[in-house]
Amino acid sequence: MRNICGSLFSNKKTLKDLIIFASIFGLAIIICCALVVFGATINKNAAETDKCATETVGVTDGLISNLFSTINAAKCELSKPELWPKDYGKVALTTQLDAYDFVIVGAGSAGSVVASRLSDNPKLNVLVLEAGGDPPLEAEIIGLSSTLHRTKYFWTDYAERNQNCCQAMKDEKCYWPRGKMIGGTGEVNGNIFLLGHPNNFDRWVLSGNDGWSWQEIQKIYKRAIKQMPNQLNSQGRLILNNFDPLENYDELTEMIFNATNELGFPQINNTIDGIKIGYTQNILATVDNGLRMSTGKTYLAKVERIRTNLHVIKNALATKIHFSGQGKATAVEFILQDTYKFRVKVNKEIILSAGVINTPKLLLQSGIGPHAHLQKVGVPLIKDLKVGQNLHDHGMLPLMLKFGQDIALPIKPTDMQSIFDFFTQQKGALAASYTLMGFINSKNFSSLNTEPNLHLVSHTLKAKGDPGSFSFLGIKDELVQLFELQTQNFTLLQIMGSLLLPKSRGSVMLRTSDPTAPPLIINNYGNHTEDRVTLLQYVRYVQKLVETKSFRKYDLELVHVPIPECDRIAYDTDEYWYCYVKYFFISSWHGVGTCKMGPIKDTTAVVDARLRVHGVKGIRVIDASIMPDISSGNTNGATIIIAEKGAQMLQEDWS
Ligand SMILES: Cc1cc2nc3c(=O)[nH]c(=O)nc-3n(C[C@H](O)[C@H](O)[C@H](O)COP(=O)(O)OP(=O)(O)OC[C@H]3O[C@@H](n4cnc5c(N)ncnc54)[C@H](O)[C@@H]3O)c2cc1C
Ligand SMILES: *[C@@H]1O[C@H](CO)[C@@H](O)[C@H](O)[C@H]1NC(C)=O
Ligand SMILES: *[C@@H]1O[C@H](CO)[C@@H](O)[C@H](O)[C@H]1NC(C)=O
Ligand SMILES: *[C@@H]1O[C@H](CO)[C@@H](O)[C@H](O)[C@H]1NC(C)=O
Ligand SMILES: *[C@@H]1O[C@H](CO)[C@@H](O)[C@H](O)[C@H]1NC(C)=O
Ligand SMILES: *[C@@H]1O[C@H](CO)[C@@H](O)[C@H](O)[C@H]1NC(C)=O
Repeated sequence: MRNICGSLFSNKKTLKDLIIFASIFGLAIIICCALVVFGATINKNAAETDKCATETVGVTDGLISNLFSTINAAKCELSKPELWPKDYGKVALTTQLDAYDFVIVGAGSAGSVVASRLSDNPKLNVLVLEAGGDPPLEAEIIGLSSTLHRTKYFWTDYAERNQNCCQAMKDEKCYWPRGKMIGGTGEVNGNIFLLGHPNNFDRWVLSGNDGWSWQEIQKIYKRAIKQMPNQLNSQGRLILNNFDPLENYDELTEMIFNATNELGFPQINNTIDGIKIGYTQNILATVDNGLRMSTGKTYLAKVERIRTNLHVIKNALATKIHFSGQGKATAVEFILQDTYKFRVKVNKEIILSAGVINTPKLLLQSGIGPHAHLQKVGVPLIKDLKVGQNLHDHGMLPLMLKFGQDIALPIKPTDMQSIFDFFTQQKGALAASYTLMGFINSKNFSSLNTEPNLHLVSHTLKAKGDPGSFSFLGIKDELVQLFELQTQNFTLLQIMGSLLLPKSRGSVMLRTSDPTAPPLIINNYGNHTEDRVTLLQYVRYVQKLVETKSFRKYDLELVHVPIPECDRIAYDTDEYWYCYVKYFFISSWHGVGTCKMGPIKDTTAVVDARLRVHGVKGIRVIDASIMPDISSGNTNGATIIIAEKGAQMLQEDWS
């Protein structure tokens, strides 16, 4: 048997190996087990101190034991059940469910806001149905959230194969992850908070959506962040802070600011007043003290425990909306815990906040959608509307550059020091993130007063031998291997280019009428010529960066990613890069648009400017799917504002 001193060191190494393994393969659970096993081993050994070869009077063992109980207590505190709403499902299983004034489907970014604000009025009773359960610890620790991909905390859907995009992905299919738990996708996302460009919303108004001007968006935003002295009020629940900076990134930051400055781009310091052309590191995020601040936590859970008019049923999959003969939505059908079928009556309105894929899916399952499609899958028609069309996303095109000269490397989130810093002080790499980003106009790099059409994000370093994001993104093994072989001796800089104003549109439909079947997603990224041209301009822009003095100082060079099909074309020709786009233009996970907001005369619209579904009564959509055109920037911010505005309209209509 090993003594405590020996086992401290050997366990340290084992734990580290395990954690690296876990982060590579996304098996977050292993981290938990490793911590538990680690703790358990130490406790067992602590009881066997007489076997320790080192002389001790026991003080050291006491200190070490204290350290471990502190870390373990901190771990338990981070995601205790009281952070989340109570589960009314237990009650539902034993008594008859009463009718509710409102049923909200989905407790994600938007649904959590709507539930919280609507139940501010004690006269209204509200039921929330959420398909997932409470978030796991890894969702709370922002540096570990990416390990949750492809676990039960995600809706893991893939689009149909498409020649224009995602050819580098496994099975050549674009990946469409969304969060499945209290807090929804806002509980697993990158936490970046942007509202967009003023023109985004002013264009919504121009296309017939009164009340959605940029001025109005700003007013709602200010109200959402304004803290109220009364803790019971849901106002002021939007919690935003800057990320802790990642250590050792100053050199990279300077290098990029210097290079972009050489190309004439200013440093911008405020994105909340609307994004502008330039580069910035000053990005707000839904975080506080190293922890995630999803709306599921700050809006919904905060008020649920002190209100009697708000119930949340977890693990409840809504499957169908029932309508009266007059086209009024009257009830929601759902399956509890994969087993029990329920139907809950609704007196006033049903609010769909199930997100860009599942909201249109639920409408289609209920008979609201394109007539021909519903006929094909055998769902009786209630109302013929263009539900599920207009699916779009910013998409992203990764480019990799290799360093010829050394650059400072950051401490890894999985290093011992990072783990210690996090659990003892909620600081360090696990609590931090890097958000240097740029907004440019690809049509004219020197025009600084136009609306940006390209978003440059990521700017992260991949140390020699580190697998980086290629495997995490779901790129084909053989491409990852070829790529790693070629780059194993270099530190890499990863840059992602996203289209702020994508033109391509896809769709979401049903495979069958079975509500538990996955959706049929037609992913048309890069289908529109203009999108491909903009992506080519992005590549040419990065090549200009490579030519700056600042990048040359580090001998930075674009990596020629080996792709057999594209390598038949002369490297660096426009044709070559269009081929690269087919392979590497992938999801940026900002899907919107599938229940488009627009006036009745717009035959492609699904909801009106007050978010009511056209042609039926008692049903609204309040989530990312109502955006007629995507906001310029990561979509969570705009989605939360949509929810705030939607909740306000509900209050106006039912006060
Ligand atoms: C990996 C990733 C990273 C991202 N990073 C960022 C970022 O850094 N910044 C940013 O701004 N945006 C980011 N986004 C996008 C952003 O998080 C989403 O745009 C936003 O969360 C959408 O909110 P929503 O309310 O429309 O949907 P969601 O938050 O997805 O909420 C939908 C909820 O409904 C539930 N649900 C679905 N179907 C049913 C059903 N039938 N019955 C009951 N419940 C159901 C789901 O489980 C979920 O909880 C990211 C997205 C992903 C996937
Ligand atoms: C950035 O530019 C400044 C001013 O010219 C220079 O002092 C600094 O060394 C540069 N930083 C990097 C990382 O190149
Ligand atoms: C933003 O901040 C940087 C650093 O403090 C400063 O150099 C720059 O001028 C600022 N930009 C604007 C537009 O205010
Ligand atoms: C690009 O923008 C600059 C500054 O606004 C302008 O002077 C120039 O004419 C533009 N070039 C083109 C090709 O439009
Ligand atoms: C990387 O370096 C090692 C050790 O110097 C060498 O054996 C290997 O061939 C190098 N790999 C490549 C792809 O150049
Ligand atoms: C774009 O998508 C449409 C509709 O799916 C399809 O008809 C068209 O052929 C696509 N265009 C290209 C260039 O693939």
